[in-house]
Amino acid sequence: MTDTYIHGHDESVLASHRWRGAENSAGYLLPVLQENHTLLDVGCGPGTITRDFAQRLPRGRVVALDRSAPIVREAVGAIQHCSGIVGDAYTLPFPNRSFDVVHAHQVLQHLRDPEGAIGEMARVSRHYLAFADADYDRMMWWPNVQELDRWMQLYQGIASANHVNPNIGRQLPSLALACGLSRYTTHAITWTYATPELCRWWGDLWAGRVLHSTFASEALRLGLSTHEELAFIARGWKAWARQPGAMFVIPSVAILAEN
Ligand SMILES: C[S@@+](CC[C@H](N)C(=O)[O-])C[C@H]1O[C@@H](n2cnc3c(N)ncnc32)[C@H](O)[C@@H]1O
Repeated sequence: MTDTYIHGHDESVLASHRWRGAENSAGYLLPVLQENHTLLDVGCGPGTITRDFAQRLPRGRVVALDRSAPIVREAVGAIQHCSGIVGDAYTLPFPNRSFDVVHAHQVLQHLRDPEGAIGEMARVSRHYLAFADADYDRMMWWPNVQELDRWMQLYQGIASANHVNPNIGRQLPSLALACGLSRYTTHAITWTYATPELCRWWGDLWAGRVLHSTFASEALRLGLSTHEELAFIARGWKAWARQPGAMFVIPSVAILAEN
């Protein structure tokens, strides 16, 4: 059975992913990159991180892989030594040890079988395997508003009904061990939205996601919410984003494993 990607690729989702870059989302990996490395980015999304990697590997090669064809096209962009492929993290279309570095950012939380995907990524990596995921249950925001509490409850419900784990961040070290990775380091990444501009950006994006993305269609399909409640949550996000002193912190855990 194919996993449902519970964010989907609505513009409101892609706009939040396009904020990411190698510095703010994969800083733990940058010190080991060498300019002739080959790198596979699994679940590349719109590819802002992927293209940052390509800029840092001018004598290497970067491959962007995702299940969605339009997303792969966006990820590759106009970079000469970056190519794209539509594929599945569970069955990567490459021989063993094909890439110096294999990377996956915010992907394992969307998979029913994260161990299967880690094993597959380890198979095609030659030197380094790097993966990072957020931990929704440890996200932090202020002020407290009931609409955001309900948003989190719904998010957890949608993920659980789809048999995926939005709180996987804290489990990545034990998953690494379970997959036979013994030489690895564990890192924490935080994204902080605490200026009025960033809070408005983040809150307005989520207001859109709550109404138009797969979050909305899954909440309705599963009978977890109604159009009226989603509109209430969206208004809550917008109002929260305009409160003086608002802030939102997203923690992720990253694993950098060596083969
Ligand atoms: C949350 S996005 C992360 C995108 C990108 N890595 C980033 O951080 O900006 C997750 C991406 O994984 C892709 N994806 C989900 N399941 C996948 C699978 N089984 N194989 C490959 N890609 C998958 C989705 O299509 C989506 O683009």
